Parts: sequence; C-alpha cells; structure tokens
Amino acid sequence: MTDRLPFQKRLSIPVVAAPMFLISGPKLVIETCKHGVVGTFPALNQRSTEGFEQWLIEINEALDGYSQANGEPAAPYGVNLIVHRSNPRVQADLEMVVKHKVPLVITSLGAVSELVDAVHSYGGLVYHDVTNRRHAEKAAEAGVDGLICVAAGAGGHAGTLNPMPFIAEMRSFFDGTLLLSGCMSTGQDVATAMQLGADLAYLGTRFINVEESRADDGYRQMIIESKTSDIVYTAAVSGVPANFLRRSLESMGITKEMWASKAKVDFGKELDAAEAEAKAWKTLWSAGQGVATIDDVVPVKALIERLKSEMHDAIRRQSGLLETYA
Ligand SMILES: Cc1cc2nc3c(=O)[nH]c(=O)nc-3n(C[C@H](O)[C@H](O)[C@H](O)COP(=O)(O)O)c2cc1C
Repeated sequence: MTDRLPFQKRLSIPVVAAPMFLISGPKLVIETCKHGVVGTFPALNQRSTEGFEQWLIEINEALDGYSQANGEPAAPYGVNLIVHRSNPRVQADLEMVVKHKVPLVITSLGAVSELVDAVHSYGGLVYHDVTNRRHAEKAAEAGVDGLICVAAGAGGHAGTLNPMPFIAEMRSFFDGTLLLSGCMSTGQDVATAMQLGADLAYLGTRFINVEESRADDGYRQMIIESKTSDIVYTAAVSGVPANFLRRSLESMGITKEMWASKAKVDFGKELDAAEAEAKAWKTLWSAGQGVATIDDVVPVKALIERLKSEMHDAIRRQSGLLETYA
C-alpha cells in the first residue's frame, strides 16, 4: 500500500479534493492539506502564469509554516495541467511547477513522457485522468505514477464506465496508484472505493459545498436541492460530454433539444473558443450524481472529520459480514 502511496502517513483519510475549474484555489487547498486530504487546483484558475506562480508561493509558505508549527508535514498538494494544444500556457506553467517543486501534478488530455520526466526530476508524482483503457495504457507507457479513473456520473468531463469493472481492469495491467473519481460524497463512498481496489478516492462535487470553495451561494444551494435526475450529461457546453446541473442549463436557455444534440452551443462569436467556454462555466454549473447525498455547506475541517467517521462506521459494518457469513 505505501509503495503505491508514498505519502500515506500524511493523510487522515484516503481522499483527494479534486481540481475544479473556477472552484478550487489556495484557501481550499491549504485547508484540505492541513487536515490530511490532498488539496488540488487547476493552473488555469489563475488567469496568467505569473498569477499561478503567486498561488504556488502562497501554498508552499502556508504548508511549510504548518509543518514547522506542528512538527509534521501536511498532506501534499497537487496542480492540474491541461496538456493540449488549446492550452498555450502549458510549458510556462510546467516551468513553475518544476521551479516550486509541486508535489503532485494531475494531467488531463495528454500524457507526455517529457512532462513526467520533468516532474520526476525533483521527486514529484504525476497522476493522469483517464476514462478508458486505451488512454490508460498510453499514460502507463508515458510513465505516470497514478491513473485517475473518471467513472460515469462524475462532475466535470465524466466518463461512461461503471467503477467496478473499471478499477478491476486497470489493476489487471497497472501496478501504480489507482484513484477512483465520480459520485462519492460520503465516508461510506470512500470506503466503497477502497473495497473496489482504489488507493485513493477523488472527490470533486462534495468539495464545492464547503465554505472555502470559490463557488457562488446559488450554485451550492442548487447542489443541495438536486438529486441524480437533476444531472445532465451533455456535450453542448464543452464539445465533449460533461455533467451539469439541469436547472442551471435551463436558466441559461439551454433547452433539452440543445443538450441532447451532439453540437456545442456557440457562446459568443466575439470570444475565442477557450474564452467563450470559460465564460459559460461561470453560469452553467457542473456537478456529479453525488449531489444526491449533499445537503449542506460546511467548513473543510468538519467535512473531513465527518468523512472519516462515516468511513470507519462503514468498514466496521462491513466487517460484521465476516461473522454473518462465517
Ligand atoms: C465544477 C467542476 C469543475 C471541474 N474542473 C476540472 C478541471 O479543471 N480539471 C480537471 O482535471 N477536472 C475537473 N473536474 C473534475 C474533477 O476533478 C473530478 O474528476 C470530479 O469532480 C469527480 O467527480 P465528483 O464531482 O462526482 O466527485 C471538475 C469537476 C467539477 C464538478
């Protein structure tokens, strides 16, 4: 276990607070890491590489200060880089990652061995987002340390696979760290991910509804009021399918016909495609099917304590099956 999770002793629960566009920033990252959960954010949540570097400095200072005051390190943090030609910043942002020795890099889209080598050069780890076996094999060839298995129902650009065969199949050929992403909002869900064979549970939507996220109050309220049937999987916003809160699509005039069609909605001819999409995500709110079990907004500390106690209860309950079916 520790081979696959070299920082396991620094965690209070096997959880990563996943990177979320417009939602995660230093406040959320610092607070999660201080309470033993890996905190992450997308580099693109800052508008420039200079701004991104400022956030890295802020996070490193806060977590170093925490370690000195407590005599033990906080959980490591991570940064998400979109490795694709549509992201002109990727090289400059990677230079900042190396300069500031970011412990964990989460790559989306491209799995590139040069990037993996650059991160390994200072002792960092690379985890790569995958939704199918072909992408996972390519990432494994590029030398990544972990695969993030983005299953059906996840917030953001979700996959379509059921988590059970997904994790089992990845484990059959990949020896590194496996993370499960999608629909987990409770400690019982985290325990389930461990049962399936994941090393870490990767939670997004649940961390929108914490006081330290950058989400609007209206967004959080809609998450509280939503159930699984309120999540729409559509390519209308990004051109690739992602999960959105139905009421936010409706309130922006994105009709059922539009979300059912494969075509991407044109959000404004005056903007370039990336800018237009970024603007769209401000009012078209993404969330996963895990909204079903979210009914509050709490501080990170309280959420992590609750996840831990629910996870312990779930494991205890399940161990009772050993006697029931002895
Ligand atoms: C609002 C939102 C924004 C997201 N933005 C990103 C992103 O910028 N980069 C990324 O790799 N994943 C992104 N994701 C996906 C998450 O990192 C994670 O895989 C997912 O949220 C896990 O599923 P869950 O939301 O059901 O817990 C986003 C998810 C949400 C809900």
